[in-house]
Amino acid sequence: MEIHSLSCLFFSPTGTTKKIAEAVAQGIKPKDLIMRDGTHAALRGSIPSSFDTDAVVLAAPVYYGRLPESVVPVFTRLNGEGKPVILVVVYGNREYDDALLEVYDISLDRGFIPVAAGAFVAEHSYSVPERPMAAGRPDAADMEKAESFGKRIREKLKQTGSANELGPLAIPGNTPYKTPENLYMIKEARKTMAFTPETDTEHCTQCGICVDACPESAIDSCDVTEVDRWKCILCFACIKSCPEQAKHMTDPHFNEAVGQLAKAIQLRKEPDLFL
Ligand SMILES: Cc1cc2nc3c(=O)[nH]c(=O)nc-3n(C[C@H](O)[C@H](O)[C@H](O)COP(=O)(O)O)c2cc1C
Repeated sequence: MEIHSLSCLFFSPTGTTKKIAEAVAQGIKPKDLIMRDGTHAALRGSIPSSFDTDAVVLAAPVYYGRLPESVVPVFTRLNGEGKPVILVVVYGNREYDDALLEVYDISLDRGFIPVAAGAFVAEHSYSVPERPMAAGRPDAADMEKAESFGKRIREKLKQTGSANELGPLAIPGNTPYKTPENLYMIKEARKTMAFTPETDTEHCTQCGICVDACPESAIDSCDVTEVDRWKCILCFACIKSCPEQAKHMTDPHFNEAVGQLAKAIQLRKEPDLFL
């Protein structure tokens, strides 16, 4: 089968998932590529539940070894209608744990036929120059791997009459899926403290870039120092998008934990590809 048209639905607060998913999609070389951005809560509702393209890419970052809570309702209301789907998760060089299995299971449940899946590495959302974690990734080698993965998917499908003829993919992971302990700890902490990025008011110009970058509309557009702690998912989109570097997470427990993580995950990991 030939893939003439392809939809790529992604969630990507700091942009790396989008970059990798687009490279995979371009490697498949469809005549029409429709990028559907499911990042912002305000736009998620307007994403159609079915696709009029030949195939679909679903892409999300790994949060706490799982799919981000924000993306699960977007994926679970899709209708696969027997279309081939390519699954992409992007993680910050720790582990992807059960995230790829989770999106694989959702895709099957929604009636897609998974034909390929990949776990790619990108700069960790919490990477800063003082504690780099996969800094600068995806780099040229990652982008080349993403695009050539797309090419291999195209070749595999060309040799197949119908996606139904393909066997299941052997995706690593466990059920029940990993419990997101740190997410539960953050939710508990927020009963007594904000636990959100703070604003350095000396440098903040109230330009509003962080308001637009926030996927959950958690930042008050009239006063960007105000953050809704129940909406904030600690994705660091505000921190990474601020042109004045005026947003920071200053909580010492958070920085201690991330510092330990950074020390533990310095060894470079490479993408895991299933097809
Ligand atoms: C809340 C949160 C949890 C994360 N959990 C993991 C994880 O379990 N394993 C990992 O390797 N990276 C983890 N990361 C890093 C992201 O998966 C990684 O930086 C990804 O590239 C972010 O995608 P984006 O640029 O599309 O937002 C986490 C990041 C955030 C913000």
